[in-house]
Amino acid sequence: MSTPARFLCYNKIMKSYIVGNWKMNFSVGESSVYLHKLSQKLRASRGLTVVVSPSFVALQPLSLQIDRKKLRLAAQAGNPHDFGAYTGAVSYTQLRGIVDYGIIGHSERRQLFHESDKDIRASVAAALRNQITPILCVGETETEHTFGETEDVIRDQLLGGLSEVSTEDISKVIIAYEPIWAISTTTDAHLASPDEIGDVAGFIRHTLKDTYGAATAKEIPLLYGGSVNPSNAGGYLTIPEINGLLVGGASLIADQFIDIIEIAKKVQD
Ligand code: PGA
Repeated sequence: MSTPARFLCYNKIMKSYIVGNWKMNFSVGESSVYLHKLSQKLRASRGLTVVVSPSFVALQPLSLQIDRKKLRLAAQAGNPHDFGAYTGAVSYTQLRGIVDYGIIGHSERRQLFHESDKDIRASVAAALRNQITPILCVGETETEHTFGETEDVIRDQLLGGLSEVSTEDISKVIIAYEPIWAISTTTDAHLASPDEIGDVAGFIRHTLKDTYGAATAKEIPLLYGGSVNPSNAGGYLTIPEINGLLVGGASLIADQFIDIIEIAKKVQD
């Protein structure tokens, strides 16, 4: 399968992103040691933004430690209400100034914590009003993939998550395509192929174009995530329409994450 001609072309000038989603791993101390190691190994790069997403407890101390010329922080989730009686929740208002990015609508949040498109839409709006760049995740299940429902699912998640975002604000949003069947897999058969990703990425770009216009749509960064590692990162980063990677498991191993960053820098050059 190749990217249909009706889809827009990837803007090669666009900045790229490598985002490490640490999920529920590392103590505060371990997070700090890891960040220190990353900082020592990385050089600032104008064309590449590197983001790490520790758990809530580590965000505030890491925000004091981080060298923002080299690295940025993302929250893994957030509550769309600003303040109030929401026991156990952390709002984007509270995260303001601590993180620059917020991962929103990750499939684990949708499936394990029952976040709906309505919750996700409210989170995107809350992040934006608190100067946090939403990284809106979309992706189909294995069954939806098998039954050819991918485009319907992606369109619903995309339009559902973005329906309160104005044309002016959409340039502050990042989209991440993460097919659920390809997340944290150890079998090559479950890895998404560059052609499959290219088709869905083209479809996402096309859907954004219908809503926000061609010029705006081609500037929206589109990331891929799903068992990214140093062996497949180069192939994924050269897919037309893909502007970066959302990395889970491999981002927990500093050497692997650094390798992926180096590969992204080479692709960018
Ligand atoms: P993975 O996780 O790289 O381990 O597949 C990606 C994600 O869930 O964001």
